[in-house]
Amino acid sequence: MITFESVTKRYPDGTVAVDRLTLEAPTGRITVFVGPSGCGKTTSLRMINRMIDATEGRILLDGVPVQGIDPPTLRRGIGYVIQQAGLFPHRKIVDNIATVPYLLGWDRKKARATAMELLERVGLDPALAGRYPFQLSGGQQQRVGVARALAADPPVLLMDEPFSAVDPIVRTNLQDELLRLQSELNKTIVFVTHDIDEAIKLGDQVAVLQVGGRLAQLADPKTLLSEPADDFVREFLGQDRGIRRLRFISTAGLRLRTDLTVAEGFDGSSPERWLLVVDGDGRPLGWRSSDRPEELEPFGTFVHGTDSMRAALDAALLSPSGCAVAVDERGRAVGVATRQALDEALAEAADG
Ligand SMILES: Nc1ncnc2c1ncn2[C@@H]1O[C@H](COP(=O)(O)OP(=O)(O)OP(=O)(O)O)[C@@H](O)[C@H]1O
Ligand SMILES: [Mg+2]
Repeated sequence: MITFESVTKRYPDGTVAVDRLTLEAPTGRITVFVGPSGCGKTTSLRMINRMIDATEGRILLDGVPVQGIDPPTLRRGIGYVIQQAGLFPHRKIVDNIATVPYLLGWDRKKARATAMELLERVGLDPALAGRYPFQLSGGQQQRVGVARALAADPPVLLMDEPFSAVDPIVRTNLQDELLRLQSELNKTIVFVTHDIDEAIKLGDQVAVLQVGGRLAQLADPKTLLSEPADDFVREFLGQDRGIRRLRFISTAGLRLRTDLTVAEGFDGSSPERWLLVVDGDGRPLGWRSSDRPEELEPFGTFVHGTDSMRAALDAALLSPSGCAVAVDERGRAVGVATRQALDEALAEAADG
């Protein structure tokens, strides 16, 4: 656990970058610092590994004040990832990843073997090991940056806008990959971003900072979206707070109808306006309307219990039937969420 106890940073020119920051970053979770440019995110992060020293207050690592730990020892247990990866341009990828193990005096073979394992772990082709950073795409370099930070298996990972310099699709992939890695590694991560959507997606808890280095709100993403502490936070969260909150509402309780599904080739009659046609494996093929039974209409699916209400509503909106098709992990239809069922679930979510 990382604890900030009323931490202030005043730069020599008088700028107060961080103002009496008090919070805890729990072990094994992702804490995101988010806020506009200049609100003190980087300063707060760098005080953890003492690249910057606090002016007042204390930062504790599992109860031990970092001010009492000499920086090299401290940093051995803290991985650090920055924007544009910050790789050493004259070192091959494998040696970039093995930087800290080399510094720690590991046997070269062991260091390289660890680097190769990590290369795969972050989703890169081992064939890239012998290249130089300039021979990789921005997204690949960023993955190498993450691998390098993980090389000595530190319990703590500090990430300062690590995905800001890549395009939105690559960024989404990197975020998903980080969540996947974290589900295996359970590091204590402090992640800095100015992008509120990234914060909401990645954070177990989100600290919203205001210019002047004041903590405006510390909350889990769902609470942040439903109960912003003040106008600053509300404005920073921006549009669509309600819609975005749907991401945190489970579809597990969504009522499904199983009597609207028919096999391909079904030519019986039904009082229903819409019927879902499935193939021999139970996979949806399309909606058949009683007005135009000769043609199948498009459908949208969500994985029942796994995907959120946001996905379920999206699925409903993709189809003229207005219904969402619930599927299992293998894509087989398990039922249909009608508008009425979606309505009920939304009403319940709004209540609770
Ligand atoms: N070495 C320094 N000397 C004086 N002021 C500084 C110094 N470093 C940062 N600052 C100021 O401290 C404040 C916080 O800076 P910091 O880099 O922590 O912000 P940030 O939230 O990371 O911003 P960004 O999103 O732009 O990266 C800013 O007003 C900045 O100008
Ligand atoms: Mg910064």
